[in-house]
Amino acid sequence: MKKIVLFTYILTSLLSAKYLTNESCKECHEDIYYEYQSSYHSKTYFNDELHRKVADVISDNSYDCGICHMPASKKLKEMETGEKQPSNASIEQKDAISCFYCHQIGYVKQAHTKNINYRTKNVEGFKPSMFGSLKNTEESDKHEMSNNPLYKQKVCLGCHSHKRNSHDVMIFNAMQDNQDSTECINCHMPYIVGGVEKMNKKGRQKHRVHTFDGIHNMQMREEAIDISIKTTDNTIEVTLKNKMPHPLIIHPSRLKYLKLSLIRNSEAIWENFKNSPLEDKQASFVVEFVDENDKFVSIPAFAYKRGFVNNLKAKETRILKYEVEQIKQDDIIKASMYVVLAKPSCSDELNLQDKTLTKPLLMKEITYKK
Ligand code: HEC
Ligand code: HEC
Ligand code: HEC
Ligand code: HEC
Ligand code: HEC
Repeated sequence: MKKIVLFTYILTSLLSAKYLTNESCKECHEDIYYEYQSSYHSKTYFNDELHRKVADVISDNSYDCGICHMPASKKLKEMETGEKQPSNASIEQKDAISCFYCHQIGYVKQAHTKNINYRTKNVEGFKPSMFGSLKNTEESDKHEMSNNPLYKQKVCLGCHSHKRNSHDVMIFNAMQDNQDSTECINCHMPYIVGGVEKMNKKGRQKHRVHTFDGIHNMQMREEAIDISIKTTDNTIEVTLKNKMPHPLIIHPSRLKYLKLSLIRNSEAIWENFKNSPLEDKQASFVVEFVDENDKFVSIPAFAYKRGFVNNLKAKETRILKYEVEQIKQDDIIKASMYVVLAKPSCSDELNLQDKTLTKPLLMKEITYKK
């Protein structure tokens, strides 16, 4: 009985286009709810220090990041013009990249500055509905849903494709125009065991995990690249292969770098840099920006051009070469790839408190013995 009342409630709410909170989905999709809560899609202005501080440096009274970072808000325009500020009294804003918002994307319009998501209620011919993976949703008495192939193919493209700033400088470009989101879903939302919905014990016994694991997850970091080593008498050749169908650096706040040591009798007799990884340009991967006078800027919103860029394209393989002194039998070479989520130029500017943003995180480490 309780169920029928709830379904009726949800259906009516959908038809009147009422916003359904993340919390309301928990009633039935408990596992998915908790997975989602631990994901970075649940982070936004109020609980993501890096995002908030970058936004505040750009402007202390207007906020134009909401369209991707808190898209369920009804006050996006007012925040852009500065009439309204982000407010954690708003549940739509706090819900970040919300369940209801994402499951209502009906169409993605491709555009120059950034793509635009349309929700089902605004797409001609679509009744308000939630998309998912049921095959015969019309036969289901559940809240109205539709198995629209467009949903799976385009659902990540609206926010993750690309973004240009107000000077037409590309800030990030992670997806090709025709790149299929099913590919993203397969790596970032693999199936795990456990029902889709907690009351129906006989329902589907696996679901797409909603933790959206990425760079913050150790196993995912390890999956990102392959490292291999070859040597001659006095050279080290490191082959790096980006296994991902997107660039090694997507977000410009990141720094990824390779640390290389030649070890003899447990002592490092050579390293590819001394103090800062940026000393070794070929092994530090960054996307930097400059202003109209070609001066370095740490916040991409203020950029007029791209500055120094060293990145690996989707699936790119690159060989780094080093000349060293004689390599001897039993010498060990250690190669470790790290990421810093907020690179030094960015964290200095923002005075970040969260240490996980500034501390190097290991991605992958290999050792090679001569
Ligand atoms: C076109 C959509 C879009 C807009 C507009 C946008 N972002 Fe983002 N942002 C993203 C996506 C997608 C990611 C995740 C990509 C990644 O992590 O590489 C992201 C990630 C970030 C991150 C890294 C978050 C972290 O936790 O490490 C920061 C910081 C950030 N954005 C700041 C901003 C600010 C500030 C604005 C407004 C000036 C803004 N973004 C506008 C799409 C957008
Ligand atoms: C009263 C219980 C209930 C609530 C509340 C509820 N759902 Fe569902 N939902 C279900 C049931 C039951 C199914 C069908 C599961 C199955 O058959 O595998 C389902 C299926 C789905 C599907 C899969 C549809 C498909 O086509 O594959 C999606 C997506 C979904 N729900 C999203 C949501 C979202 C988002 C919310 C919160 C706004 C929500 N649900 C709230 C009960 C509920
Ligand atoms: C409404 C915009 C939007 C949509 C749609 C969207 N994302 Fe995101 N995504 C973001 C933003 C914004 C962030 C960064 C949030 C933050 O860190 O504050 C992000 C972060 C991520 C991350 C980084 C997580 C981490 O821990 O590093 C992954 C992975 C991701 N999204 C995958 C996906 C996939 C897969 C899809 C499609 C099923 C998708 N996203 C759809 C906006 C979106
Ligand atoms: C072959 C598996 C694979 C596929 C397919 C894939 N990714 Fe990733 N992605 C990863 C791995 C592994 C990481 C974490 C390591 C890293 O960021 O270097 C990652 C990281 C990310 C991040 C976080 C980057 C950051 O700096 O915060 C985002 C955002 C993201 N992926 C989005 C996408 C989108 C959108 C698609 C679809 C075009 C996609 N991914 C397809 C494997 C994949
Ligand atoms: C960034 C977009 C996004 C967000 C946010 C999101 N989902 Fe999903 N969800 C998806 C995608 C994509 C699928 C898988 C579609 C497919 O089968 O390929 C999915 C699948 C589902 C399913 C069907 C389960 C299955 O694997 O068959 C349910 C139920 C669901 N989501 C509920 C939720 C709930 C509840 C929330 C919030 C707690 C949520 N979703 C947040 C994109 C999202």
